Amino acid sequence: MKEFTIFAQIEDFDLESKYLIHKAKDAAAHAYAPYSKFLVGAAILLEDGTIVTGTNQENAAYPSGMCAERVALFSAISQHPDSRITKIAVVAKKKGGKELLPATSCGPCRQVMLEFELRQNKSIEVLMMNMDHQWVKAPSAMSLLPFCFTGASLEHH
Ligand code: THU
Repeated sequence: MKEFTIFAQIEDFDLESKYLIHKAKDAAAHAYAPYSKFLVGAAILLEDGTIVTGTNQENAAYPSGMCAERVALFSAISQHPDSRITKIAVVAKKKGGKELLPATSCGPCRQVMLEFELRQNKSIEVLMMNMDHQWVKAPSAMSLLPFCFTGASLEHH
């Protein structure tokens, strides 16, 4: 299995990844997070170079809200049903804050990324900041979800 790559700073990424992180950061500014005040932005790079972004969308009925990653993923596939996703960058910051904060995608978002990966038959690189404020480049959603549950699991009785 391919390894995770750890970078100390954004500058260590390749140009394309840096740009994607920058787009995620721009998107985060428009997150709707009045309850947590934790603004998350996700930017998705499609195979043809198109970038689709998403932000977390909270709701007074808390579970009705949605994470930035899934907003971006569902939006990307709805707008570009025939495109494949190459990469996703996730960033977070506090409302009014400038510093980026750790945001390693939650389990359900990883699960959704995995389904995208399987249906498009191509790995999706995931870029995000870990709790040590380092940048992680995961080679695939699969690498973030060991012992995952997939459609194949439903074939076994
Ligand atoms: N959130 C995301 O959008 N993505 C993550 O990776 C972690 C959590 C959102 C959900 C909620 O609106 C807020 O951050 C606090 O959990």
